[in-house]
Amino acid sequence: MSAVKVNGLLITFEGIDGAGKSSHMQSTAQALQQAGLEVVVTREPGGTALAETLRELILNDKMDGLTESLLVFAARRDHLVDVIMPALARGAVVLSDRFTDSTFAYQGYGRGFNLQVLMQLEAWVQQGIQPDLTLWFDVPPELAAQRMSGARVPDRFEQESCIFFERVQQGYQARLEQNPQRIARIDAAQSIEDVASQVRHILKARGIV
Ligand code: TYD
Repeated sequence: MSAVKVNGLLITFEGIDGAGKSSHMQSTAQALQQAGLEVVVTREPGGTALAETLRELILNDKMDGLTESLLVFAARRDHLVDVIMPALARGAVVLSDRFTDSTFAYQGYGRGFNLQVLMQLEAWVQQGIQPDLTLWFDVPPELAAQRMSGARVPDRFEQESCIFFERVQQGYQARLEQNPQRIARIDAAQSIEDVASQVRHILKARGIV
């Protein structure tokens, strides 16, 4: 796999569970399609048959931090090779609900797993591929918990405490500080309309749509 992306764009959507990123991903996809672009909407862990199988295990089976990280990166490798890389090579815009910032935030900061090992896995799996833009939907963990309460049966991550999500949020903040050009923070505590307008503003400022 080469790191050459040709004309495509990889845009990732990040945030703690309950941040409300998914609906904004759909409206972003519509706006890009209306602008005549080919859009591929996908998610992690997942996006291929194999990676979706791994997702079920990651979200539901108890495992240690290294196993969890290896499975997340195995799923990512399959997703990159089968979906993301070919789409970027065709010149499509790929919108991914989560990517490697989730691994640093959840496995690294949330679980306390070794960040150096994650960096090593990232280098092996991605071989230089990074998102062109990452939208971080930042919301206080208490508000995210309120938004999530009552919604379907919680998975292994959604069952975690507010303290866990505070660590995950700190992880995203650290990623933002390390990658200020790539990552844009969105204040996701605002109304849906306000958040949508922040998203539009960022895409316009980057000349994407
Ligand atoms: P999520 O994206 O919130 O999907 P849904 O909206 O269907 O619940 O759920 C995926 C979960 O996986 C989320 O809790 C974060 C976790 N996750 C990791 O821990 N590490 C990762 O690298 C990725 C991609 C996700």
